[in-house]
This record gives sequence, structure tokens and C-alpha cells, in this order.
Amino acid sequence: MAASNSGVTLVGLGNMGTAIAHAFLKSGRSLTIWNRTSTRPSVTELVVAGASYEPDLAEAISANNIIVFCVLEYQNIYQGLQPLVASGVLKDKVMVNLTNGTPQDAREASVWLKERGVANYFDGGIMVTPQNVGTPVSIVLISGEDEDMLESSGVRGLISSIGLPDYKGEDAGIAAGYDIALLSGMFGMFIGSLTALAMIRKQIDRARKTSGADGTKKAVADVNLTNVVTTYFNPLLTSLIPHNELLAAAIDNNDQDNNHGNPMEMMRIAINNIIRGCEEEGVDAENLRHFAKLTEQVVHLHGPDSGLAWVHSLLLK
Ligand SMILES: NC(=O)c1ccc[n+]([C@@H]2O[C@H](COP(=O)([O-])OP(=O)(O)OC[C@H]3O[C@@H](n4cnc5c(N)ncnc54)[C@H](OP(=O)(O)O)[C@@H]3O)[C@@H](O)[C@H]2O)c1
Repeated sequence: MAASNSGVTLVGLGNMGTAIAHAFLKSGRSLTIWNRTSTRPSVTELVVAGASYEPDLAEAISANNIIVFCVLEYQNIYQGLQPLVASGVLKDKVMVNLTNGTPQDAREASVWLKERGVANYFDGGIMVTPQNVGTPVSIVLISGEDEDMLESSGVRGLISSIGLPDYKGEDAGIAAGYDIALLSGMFGMFIGSLTALAMIRKQIDRARKTSGADGTKKAVADVNLTNVVTTYFNPLLTSLIPHNELLAAAIDNNDQDNNHGNPMEMMRIAINNIIRGCEEEGVDAENLRHFAKLTEQVVHLHGPDSGLAWVHSLLLK
């Protein structure tokens, strides 16, 4: 099959790959798709929407100049391509890898693929869930090659249909570094949230056990985790999101002693109270222990009135 500039091959039709495929089709691209499991419902769904399913991976790659990978992990790419490399199928291809991995994973993939004939390698991170692919909130971090190549290869235009392309640098690993940084913030929030929900569960159970048969009983019985999150937890987290900018600005401006009204010693005591409270109530607070140690070090090094931003300097190895 002849290569086409407006066409693209997409490998991987999981939740994210399927959303990307729909975005490509919506932007008018001719799309060839390949997925390890041909019976996955998204394959049929995308064929109905206008994609061409190619059951043979080598044929799928031969169909277009630009190949996009969005599979579970980098290892899947090597597993799929290794048996094909001898045929020269990767020669002169432009590879865009949107699979989540580390900066080193991305750099190694760039070298491995170029040694096997790939002309250009871009590595990207999609900063939204599949539901938001192709919407104005979607951003795709991208690195590798250079910005001129991003443009001339057609990759910038292609990525634009998924989200706003945000080029981060020529080292192929930089986008993955940003990606895992942002995800560490997200997963940090989730483990904090789940610890909170475990602690709230204990309080709800205690309130139910100890409530009498008077008017409080119904109010206690009606409480569940969902309404606690809606009423208290999400408003608290939402009000604190702007604090991230204060932390970043304190680090940027070498102003880590600025505690923004929250002295480090007060926070050290609060975090230790949370850990003690969790232990007393039978909730695992292991995730907070390292944070508590860092706050102790900051108080020791920079004093009780110093600011949370100092923790940043302790995390840099
Ligand atoms: N979902 C999100 O919110 C999100 C957001 C940003 C980035 N991402 C990243 O996007 C990538 C794909 O995520 P997803 O949500 O689409 O995951 P998913 O729904 O679990 O789909 C995984 C995909 O990888 C394929 N795969 C798994 N093992 C394979 C193997 N050994 N060889 C070939 N293909 C294999 C699966 O094929 P089969 O159908 O054959 O199993 C499927 O197409 C991941 O790196 C993820 O971190 C996801």
C-alpha cells in the first residue's frame, strides 16, 4: 500500500487509542488501525466510523508514513516490532509514541527505533483522560527531534487533532518527564483522598454504632462517603489548588522561607497528628510518614517559621 501524507497508522485501541482514533477520523485523516486483540469492540466500532483495520502489523505500518503507538507499556512496542525489523518495514517512518513511560524509556525507544530505520521519533504524553481527547482542554506534551521537524513531518498538525501540541525539547525523554511529574501530583492526591476516605469510613461507622434512637439517628444514617466528599472534601481541595502556584513561585523566586501563613512547625505537628490519629483509628497512614520526615528535616534546617516549599530542595537528589 502506498504511503500517504494525510494518512496515519494507529497501533493500540484501548480506551486512549480509541479516543485518539476518533479524533483522527474527525479531523479528516485516513486511518489504518491495528490492535493485538482483533475482537476488541473498539475495532469494529472504528471500522464502522471509517477506519481501515489491518490485521497484519507490518502491513499496517507500511500503509502510512506516520505511525502512532498508544499501548499499555513500552515493552509492548518492542514485542510487536522486533519480529518485523528484518523486513525493513520501519525504514523512513515517523514514529509518534503516546505510550506512558519514563524519560529513559523514551530515549531508549528513540535510539532503538532509529537504529532500525525510523527517520524521526517523537514521544508524547496526553494530559487528559480519553473523554477529553480532542476537546479544548486537551494538551499533548511532546519532545524529540526539533520544532522544525515537528512541523515539517506533519506531526504537529496530526497531534492538534488530539489536543494542543506543547513542544518541550529535543531530548526525547523530556515530555515523559513532564508527564510523570504531573501524574505524580495526581496520584499523590488520590492516595491522600483514599486515606481520607478510610478515616471518614471509620467515623461514619463509629457514629452509626453510637447514635441513639433520637433525632440524630436519621442524620447519622444518611451520611455516606459521597456526601462527605461533596460537602467538605472537594471544596477544601479546590480552595487549596491555587496554593500550588504559591509553592512554585516561592521556589522560582528563592523565597522558600515564605510560609504563606502556614509555618512549617505547625504543619509538622499537624501531619504527625494525622499519622497518630490514623494509627489510633486503625487506618494505614504509611503514605504520610515520609512527608512527616521531610517536614522534620525542614524545621531542623530552616526553622519553625519556614515554608513548605523547602521540601522541594530535599526531594532533589
Ligand atoms: N486512559 C487514560 O486516562 C490515559 C491518559 C493518558 C495516557 N494514557 C496512556 O495511554 C496508554 C494506553 O492507555 P489506555 O487507557 O488505552 O489503556 P487500555 O485501555 O488498558 O488499553 C491498552 C492497550 O494496549 C494494548 N496492549 C496491551 N498489552 C499489549 C501487548 N503485549 N502487545 C500489544 N498491545 C498490547 C491493548 O491491546 P489488547 O486490546 O490486545 O489488550 C490495548 O490496545 C497507556 O500508556 C496509558 O498510560 C492513558
